Amino acid sequence: MSKLLVTGGRKLSGEVKVQGSKNSTLPILAATILCEDESILFNCPKLSDVDATVGILRYLGCTASRSDDTLVVNTKAMDKSDIPHELMLKMRSSIIFLGVLIARCKKAKMSLPGGCELGPRPIDLHLSALRQMGIEINEEHGELECSAPDGIFGAKIALSFPSVGATENIMLTAVKAKGTTVITNAAKEPEIVDLAEFLSSCGAKISGAGESTIIIEGVEKLHGTKHSIIPDRIVAATLMSAIAATKSKATLDRVILSHLSAITPVFEQAGCELSFKEGKLTVASPYRLHSPKLIRTMPYPGFPTDAQAPVMAMTCLARGITVFVENIFESRYKHVDELNRLGADIKVEGKVAVVDGVRHLSGANVRALDLRGAAALVVAALSSQGKTEITGLEYLKRGYDDFEVVLQTLGADIKKI
Ligand code: UD1
Repeated sequence: MSKLLVTGGRKLSGEVKVQGSKNSTLPILAATILCEDESILFNCPKLSDVDATVGILRYLGCTASRSDDTLVVNTKAMDKSDIPHELMLKMRSSIIFLGVLIARCKKAKMSLPGGCELGPRPIDLHLSALRQMGIEINEEHGELECSAPDGIFGAKIALSFPSVGATENIMLTAVKAKGTTVITNAAKEPEIVDLAEFLSSCGAKISGAGESTIIIEGVEKLHGTKHSIIPDRIVAATLMSAIAATKSKATLDRVILSHLSAITPVFEQAGCELSFKEGKLTVASPYRLHSPKLIRTMPYPGFPTDAQAPVMAMTCLARGITVFVENIFESRYKHVDELNRLGADIKVEGKVAVVDGVRHLSGANVRALDLRGAAALVVAALSSQGKTEITGLEYLKRGYDDFEVVLQTLGADIKKI
């Protein structure tokens, strides 16, 4: 079992590139199925979730090869429309294959994704939208069996919550449907826009991505394309937290500032100086951080739930109290007990966490229990006095590409053993 060994207290400096976005890469990889041809994706991060998605593509009969950050996928020879249970289990977000399988094969079979470390993960919004598009769905014995005997039809779909995954699944089902689909209360995340840009460059007709109403006009055929994945805004927020928590000054390259519009004000309230020029964001931390007071997670453009844990790790050392309200997922405070083991003072009541900033954290043995919680422990370990051992690295690898190497480049004393 590998673990990270961190000796905290080192200042970070220099410049690193922000990896490509995990949450863009996964739906775009699924979307390649609709092209029935070769697609080339640049800036694809090396992550276990990406490997799991590529594993599903290969099982379906597609080919995929990687050279550094470039993935070449060819979906022409795909000859299956089911995903076995063990492949579904590897990653909850493989539900994103539902729409593309039905759109390509007019049928799909997969197991229900079930809950995950963040609590229950229902897919009712996905299923009711696909039913409105003429797809028959049977849910029995933990399996989903779908067919579209009469074809797939555009529909007016009003989401009761702007779910990212449901918006993506509807877009993927609609691009080759008969007629026009209108999604209202759609998710507006940058990853939705990236998916729309990929699909549009394959020949899809989509307008409004990034706004709350998305209109998709079905087309007969899509073709392969070349596409560069957007930088990962959550990895950027994690690195910003690490720089701030270690009282450092360092630069992140490949940043799209508008994607961080709810994140940068938190760092400014904490007393950090931010400067941005030509895709590079420099973060300079004050001697002691101030509490950013109140952070509420919300759908985009609100503060992202995925940045809650790493930013919380930063606030552990801030002067004053920071209140977090987690509005998106039920069980998203699993990192709190571990941060407290490092000397933080955090209390949780339901969806509220209250962080009373302390002067010092001190190294300890801690265990990651989910992806962003793992990142939070790394941030806290870097700002702790002494040595910290972090286990549960399989979670970190789901979303962070060679994270210890990135942090070593910034001068951190961190190694994987
Ligand atoms: C995506 C991201 C994840 C991020 C989340 C919210 C990917 C691979 N994952 O997850 O990192 O934390 O967006 O920004 O892109 N819900 C329902 N019914 C549904 C679907 C969702 O009740 O059918 C609820 C969920 O339980 C959750 C909330 O809606 O409470 C948000 O979920 P959603 O936006 O769908 O997140 P994901 O697409 O799963």
